[in-house]
Amino acid sequence: MKGRSLLLLAMTLVASSASFAQTPAGTGQMKPVAYKVVDGNKVDNDTLQGWKTWRALACERCHGAKQEGMVGPSLIDAFKTLDKNEFHRTVFGGRVDKGMPDFSSSQMMQKNWENLFAYLKGRSDGKINPGDLQAIDAK
Ligand code: HEC
Repeated sequence: MKGRSLLLLAMTLVASSASFAQTPAGTGQMKPVAYKVVDGNKVDNDTLQGWKTWRALACERCHGAKQEGMVGPSLIDAFKTLDKNEFHRTVFGGRVDKGMPDFSSSQMMQKNWENLFAYLKGRSDGKINPGDLQAIDAK
């Protein structure tokens, strides 16, 4: 019985790559990363909330207004490879010894981290322009 479940676990680990073991607790079913962008600066509402979270929590103090890095590393580069689990772990817990604060007590972050992930992905993909955004359906 025990041997069998270990085998199953091993197979699951192989099948689903390294990210399996790191699925953050409490995140439940994660949304697929999706952002919609028109003309570079109009985005869907979720992504807009992600950008507002970026602004409200002033990530730009360290990562730069264009996410290209200052004290903190370029997130344009980081998001070429950073997956959602890794992002979650970084903002909920931080890397305090290296200068990245822990944002886990921020309600805005708790609510919007996936939207923020989508926003930063869009920036890294070169699809979303730096600077102010508005809703796609804004008049
Ligand atoms: C006080 C400065 C500071 C602020 C504010 C800050 N960061 Fe960071 N951040 C850092 C530093 C420094 C690192 C690099 C840590 C390391 O060396 O591992 C980092 C790393 C990261 C990484 C990991 C990058 C990688 O290459 O793995 C992500 C993602 C990130 N920050 C996102 C954010 C977000 C989102 C915000 C705003 C909610 C934010 N940071 C605010 C300083 C900051």
